[in-house]
Amino acid sequence: MKTKARSFSRAAAASAFLATSLGVSLVLASSAAGAASTLGAAAAQTGRYFGAAVAAGKLGDSTYVNILNREFSMITPENEMKWDATEPNRGQFNYSGGDRILNQAVSTGKRVRGHALLWYQQEPGWAQRMEGSDLRAAMMNHVTTVATHYKGKIYAWDVVNEAFADGGSGGRRDSNLQRTGNDWIEAAFRAARAADPDAKLCYNDYNTDGVNAKSTGIYNMVRDFKSRGVPIDCVGFQSHLSGNPPGDYQANLQRFADLGVEVQITELDISGSNQAGAYGTVTRACMAVSRCAGLTTWGIRDTDSWRSGENPLLFDGNGNKKAAYTSVLDALNAGGPTVPTTPTTPTTPTTPTTPTTPTTPTTPTTTTPVPSGCSASVSLNQWNGGFVANVKVTAGSTGLTGWRVTTNLPSGAAVTNSWSAGNSGTTGSVTWTNVSYNGTVAAGQSTEFGFQGTGTAEGVTASCAAS
Ligand code: XIL
Repeated sequence: MKTKARSFSRAAAASAFLATSLGVSLVLASSAAGAASTLGAAAAQTGRYFGAAVAAGKLGDSTYVNILNREFSMITPENEMKWDATEPNRGQFNYSGGDRILNQAVSTGKRVRGHALLWYQQEPGWAQRMEGSDLRAAMMNHVTTVATHYKGKIYAWDVVNEAFADGGSGGRRDSNLQRTGNDWIEAAFRAARAADPDAKLCYNDYNTDGVNAKSTGIYNMVRDFKSRGVPIDCVGFQSHLSGNPPGDYQANLQRFADLGVEVQITELDISGSNQAGAYGTVTRACMAVSRCAGLTTWGIRDTDSWRSGENPLLFDGNGNKKAAYTSVLDALNAGGPTVPTTPTTPTTPTTPTTPTTPTTPTTPTTTTPVPSGCSASVSLNQWNGGFVANVKVTAGSTGLTGWRVTTNLPSGAAVTNSWSAGNSGTTGSVTWTNVSYNGTVAAGQSTEFGFQGTGTAEGVTASCAAS
């Protein structure tokens, strides 16, 4: 017996040694097999992200930043990209907080959800006091300017937040934004697309956790947008929950996904005694919907939450993982269909070019001059009292090292803002000159610039010259 026991313990020691010496490869093998040890890594296995809302003011807190860096792959600024923060005075923009968060994300390899371009809450005081066409112009200018500042850096923008009413109406919420005209949402999406063609554009709301009057109102809007070519790519479900989500939580996500938009859980926090279970249910629902691109919790530790006293997050006040954390991690590691990569829908449908059948040239008697120089075409998005114009500059057969475009605006139209070109004048005949990075255009290739204005630009013409 004694001998046996000794030899057994030697064998155990030997296998322990073996396991230690093989430790690295064992860990790699298990993570390749699916058991990742952080939220971000576990979500990434199926092409999803796992994010957190972050406050710029907490980026000096090492516990907070350590958890952020370790666990999350997406960041939403909790307040720093809202209208009151980014345009405290009309036409005067402040990106300090938003840029801090963006830089933190970029320097640690994370992506950013922009939140939120237009929302009836946290409007700056000057906008709260406005109405009508003046407000509409200010709204569009805000969307264009902020989305242009962050162009190419945002994974998805909440272009419009919380525009639908609670309760049974299924209609829009009253606000000064809504009172500028029912088309304000589509105008905002068009302006955002023109400013940043690579960002996914989302509509985001709460109390949309199952099939109900409010979520159906939003569903109908998204279906209408898709059918009319209004650029929308995603719907955000805030999911501020008390206890379990409704039984049709997943089915509701799926019906939106079936419209051809991505769905995202954007502000998840859950109170109540079945917190861990409810977190697991929500995570599994996202994992089961192939177009559910990821989840974001609205904060990191319970003490960071806007729902003070409800402890609705995945880490306690000391930064320890809660049972809800394990529940989410397990659900992510259990896997699901991989998220398909959906390109953002193009702003302007490209007109198919019918190739002309080349005729074999007989020896020409007269040489047709090869077109050189450039051409310009304008596409317009208009609303009552304003417009966004996108101008496409196409180089002729010799390519360009600089260009000048002249647009002729009808009377009453005036340019208020522009991007990717310099201009002289704002009314009538306006001349646009390339900026440093878009003057060189290879033969047959194109570049774009744009501007926004008040009035109507119907009938605007554009001509181009090489310079
Ligand atoms: C909240 C922030 O967490 C708070 O710090 C702020 O005081 C108010 O706004 N829906 C949203 C978020 O879209 O922007 C809100 O964030 C929470 C509800």
